[in-house]
Amino acid sequence: MIDREDLTFDEFDEIENPGPEQTDFEILTDKMLARRSFMKGGLALGLGSLVLGSTVLSSRDAMATSRLAFKAVAANSNDTITVPDGYDWQVVVRWGDPLWSKGVNFDHATRGNGESQELSFGDNNDGMALFTHEGRYILAVNNEYTNRKIIYPGNDGKPATADDVRKGKAAHGISVLELSNADGYWTVVKDSKYNRRLTADSPMEITGPARGHELLKTAADPSGTKSLGTWNNCGNGRTPWGTYLTCEENFNGYFSSSDENYQVDPALKRYGVGLKDWGYGWAMTDERFDISKNPNEPNRAGYIVEIDPLDPTSTPKKRTALGRFKHENAELVVANDGHVVVYLGDDERGEFLYRFVSAGKYVQGGDNSNLLEDGTLYVAKFHEDGKGEWLALTPETTGMKSKAEICIHTRMAASAVGATTMDRPEWVTSHPSKAEVYCALTNNKNRGVKPNKGGDETPVGGPNPREKNLFGQIVRWRPEGGDHTAKGFGWDLFAMAGNPAVHNDLRKGSANITEENMFNSPDGLAFDSQGFLWIQTDGNYSNAKDFAGQGNNQMLCADTETGEIKRFLVGPKECEVTGITWSADRRTMFVGIQHPGERGDSHFPDGGDAAPRSAVIAITKKDGSVIG
Ligand code: FEO
Ligand code: CA
Ligand code: CA
Repeated sequence: MIDREDLTFDEFDEIENPGPEQTDFEILTDKMLARRSFMKGGLALGLGSLVLGSTVLSSRDAMATSRLAFKAVAANSNDTITVPDGYDWQVVVRWGDPLWSKGVNFDHATRGNGESQELSFGDNNDGMALFTHEGRYILAVNNEYTNRKIIYPGNDGKPATADDVRKGKAAHGISVLELSNADGYWTVVKDSKYNRRLTADSPMEITGPARGHELLKTAADPSGTKSLGTWNNCGNGRTPWGTYLTCEENFNGYFSSSDENYQVDPALKRYGVGLKDWGYGWAMTDERFDISKNPNEPNRAGYIVEIDPLDPTSTPKKRTALGRFKHENAELVVANDGHVVVYLGDDERGEFLYRFVSAGKYVQGGDNSNLLEDGTLYVAKFHEDGKGEWLALTPETTGMKSKAEICIHTRMAASAVGATTMDRPEWVTSHPSKAEVYCALTNNKNRGVKPNKGGDETPVGGPNPREKNLFGQIVRWRPEGGDHTAKGFGWDLFAMAGNPAVHNDLRKGSANITEENMFNSPDGLAFDSQGFLWIQTDGNYSNAKDFAGQGNNQMLCADTETGEIKRFLVGPKECEVTGITWSADRRTMFVGIQHPGERGDSHFPDGGDAAPRSAVIAITKKDGSVIG
């Protein structure tokens, strides 16, 4: 029996909603075998399917002229943070730290209750952005999800009471908090007028083409314009007009059905909504999460939400124009002609990479507050020859009735136009000074093995060159003519992660992957202001077999001009490293440490017998100089 707690959302979805060609038993067998079968057998792959940029040198060549001015750290499996010599790190805020003085300090035995959690920093921090306003620092942070065995230490990790559910819902969402910096130490400003928690119960306004659509109407909101809450907020984005974008990812895992014979609509199944939730138990106290009673509620999640971090009284806006899928992050660039372009990944095996182009144009100093209200969605099609194109999702191209329907059933729209099925698109980031965009494709054990949930084939090739892709890769593209609104682009792979100590085929990775810098499952991705690329991982931390020598999840820095990649940070046990932002003076880099001890083996950051707690850390240089 496999414990659901040990499955990823993807794996859980597959069990609840198996594709027609595979039974539950086969999925479970596949999962168990997968852990031990990769050592044997090569991959039947031609190198011709792999396009690597001519600028990518081997790390050894690049080292001679390295621009990455730090000494790489070695992989390890320690239960702490490792940074290079000459750097310091400190904890800024942890799960359960109160944001108001009426809150209570975190209780390591009970791990809090509903009330204490509502007054505290949420759990499992992910994407974040630091805003500076009138000399004050305001940090907006996603709190993606909870690990039930950690937040409910009794009752075998299950929510047992209504207050348990209240606590769980309050641990999700977004935390907005003011920080102060005194003598180099970053601390939370309790009771700041900016401090705010948004949870699974906070009022949201639904905007854009799908606003008021039949599919968004529920008993509690017959207008289809007001929803409650945001949850499973993964990566983020920020806009040049000062708002924060939070991205609803695995929204499906919270819905269940009190009627076990309920026939789930195929459109919900495409998003992994089924009869059982992930174990959160929210339907216990809130009928919104019971799909047999509120079948349209899941249509009100899976969006990009725009938040004004400086106005705690503002209502967050769900931006349906940016489509509905398992949103990873939202990378916004202003095109040469002023259109706002947002690149968006859908993190599920065999799903797609998207682009939104606004209908209106950005005007510096003007009112840009509704630019994400309307525009056109596109989905990426990659060709084998290193070229690609953006396919518009319109009623004409998709056969769907309306723009609203495309914004709600975006995955089906993308399937209809024949987009390229990808190896789980995670964060997208755009180079700060040239038209070049990067996306982490984290891994995909189904590549070349089975179709996605919509039945689209997942052939090996193009930017997804490895069957049963274990390690992941980073694809990059350059818009034609340097124009982010152009139809065409050229692409290559910047890096293909792998393990050259264990494998001698494509699983060893691209030329810029060495035994010194190897990693698996790139996830978070962000350029700093100097144009260096930071890579964060959320992968296998067993340090064994295929992953031997890779240690805990980590963060690396890459020079995209030379291809050089160096390991900068190693996280504590069983964490992922995710979320990154900088202070305006670039002397502090904030990094997210999510779910340390997700399988029970960490006491980060408090040590001793303490409960493991997700945290935001600040990294500075001992000499006080800039690091981004
Ligand atoms: Fe929340 Fe795709 O990571
Ligand atoms: Ca992620
Ligand atoms: Ca993740």
